[in-house]
Amino acid sequence: MYRTHTCGELRGEHAGETVTLAGWVARVRDLGGVIFLTLRDRYGRTQLVFHPERSRELVERAKRLRQEWVLQVTGTVRPRPDDMVNPEMATGGIEVAVDELVVLASPDTPPLLPEDEFEPSEEHRLRWRFLDLRRERMRRNLLARHELLQLSRRYFSERGFVEIETPYLTRSTPEGARDFVVPSRLHHGSWYALPQSPQTYKQILIASGYDRYFQIVRCFRDEDFRANRQPEFTQIDVEMAFCHERDVMEASEGLMRAIFEQLVGVEFPETVPRMSYEEAMRRFGTDKPDLRFGNELVELTDLLAGHGFGVIDNTVAGGGRVIGLRVPEQASASRKEVGEFESYVKERGLGGLMPLRRVSGDWSGPLGKFIPESALAEAARTLALEPDSDLALVAAAPAPRVHQVMGMLRLELARKFGWIDTDRHELLWIDRFPLFEKDEESGRWLALHHPFTAPEPESFAEHAGDPGRIISQAYDLVWNGEEVAGGSLRIHDRETQLTVFELLGMQPAEAKRRFNFLMEALDYGAPPHGGIAFGFDRLVMILTGEPSIRDVIAFPKTTQAVALFEGAPGEIDDVQWRELALARATGPGK
Ligand code: AMO
Repeated sequence: MYRTHTCGELRGEHAGETVTLAGWVARVRDLGGVIFLTLRDRYGRTQLVFHPERSRELVERAKRLRQEWVLQVTGTVRPRPDDMVNPEMATGGIEVAVDELVVLASPDTPPLLPEDEFEPSEEHRLRWRFLDLRRERMRRNLLARHELLQLSRRYFSERGFVEIETPYLTRSTPEGARDFVVPSRLHHGSWYALPQSPQTYKQILIASGYDRYFQIVRCFRDEDFRANRQPEFTQIDVEMAFCHERDVMEASEGLMRAIFEQLVGVEFPETVPRMSYEEAMRRFGTDKPDLRFGNELVELTDLLAGHGFGVIDNTVAGGGRVIGLRVPEQASASRKEVGEFESYVKERGLGGLMPLRRVSGDWSGPLGKFIPESALAEAARTLALEPDSDLALVAAAPAPRVHQVMGMLRLELARKFGWIDTDRHELLWIDRFPLFEKDEESGRWLALHHPFTAPEPESFAEHAGDPGRIISQAYDLVWNGEEVAGGSLRIHDRETQLTVFELLGMQPAEAKRRFNFLMEALDYGAPPHGGIAFGFDRLVMILTGEPSIRDVIAFPKTTQAVALFEGAPGEIDDVQWRELALARATGPGK
């Protein structure tokens, strides 16, 4: 037997037992000829003692041990002297007095030391990921991920959802990103697409009678990467037949309740609020508002326009809006600081930012100069501005840009001034999304979620000639300002599906070529259905309080979509080029 116990297991009750442990050297200290060594494995840490009274030879060997060497030791468990007990450590009440030592690996000093106090750069961490994964932080994150994986699977399985795997080599399934594609060796010139989500498969499974499906599944999307996006990521994908929106929401809330109660350790709210997309954009400038703090966007257009202040009047005449944001206790912010906030919004496309504050009875800045006192006082009341204490920042610009950028500023200020209570957890449903959004570049309509989302029947009938006003039956779940799930009721007849494809600029022949497999399933008895998909990595990110999903994925890609330690993407050899009948690109861009 390599080991009788793990490094996280021994307690006072084991005193007197002879045990064998194996693990990595976390730390070695020589205290006047007695060697204290911390041995680590993924379960925890145990203090080992090499005492000259037990064996001088062992002490000499122990002196040569280095961090990250791999050892097997046998010794006797004994309680630590009272003044040496470490209440911070699960095994802090005992130590193991070593009688036998086997060195299983004796590496050079590794390029990343898991025990180092300072944080290595992310590039270094990803280059040496196997060492990074030895760190306590990553161990904690991967174990939290495992817990959530098991909890989610149990949750759906116990409620009659059947886990069914769907293919990775597929036809394109659009979710609004680019596909990763795989060339076919047997059919030269043909390509598989890796699924952006199992959306079409799960709808077909519903038509096949599996009325409650789920899958914990990898999805692939070639898009621009940020802290909360990866080219491959994991979804908890769910679909239900014979359901209303409320049924999908209840199933989802049940999962969140289990997560809150079993993993976060906080009470689940009595009701999860719902907010329309329109209201979220108006009040927070985003469809994923963080409700852990207030300071919402305040509409000031009617109060501040029409007083002859050109900056505002011209913007409003062009259809723009005036939006204010209260910044508590910053009335004395310097011109330089306000200038920094202004640069922030200018970099994001606004023309400028005007401070509004009343100090010792005086309104300062251009607003104070051009807007009458009574209008400023009313604006201050609307903003709940405390004179001599609070500052407000006001922007006049075209909507919805002004809302979006002021919404980003709200988050930026929350981080800067510590408005967010990180012990608080706020969930929220966003619904009543538009079915389509316009792509500004091409002027074409795009599906805001995906093209299989059902329109709300009344708005579909009413706004047939004005697609931008059609409301969908989609819903997103937002947790602490992060979109953690998105879903919808689906179109379940060919005719509506074809109409939606057509509004998206897809002619029936093309729709048939690309999606006939789905429409056939709709033709032959598809029940009404709907579903949702959770971003699994994002759930773990919030659960562990990490700033990025890269910290909760064992082997993530960089923001440049590169796996640093293995060097993917990489070359393929000449034989593969030939077998796949690919020609090396020689044109522009290569
Ligand atoms: P959607 O595109 O909203 O919906 O994706 C569902 C959830 O997956 C997460 N997510 C991501 N996580 C990490 N990296 C990414 N690149 C990434 N993209 C999305 C988000 C998101 O809320 N088929 C639909 C679901 C449905 O309608 O049932 C879909 O995929 O947390």
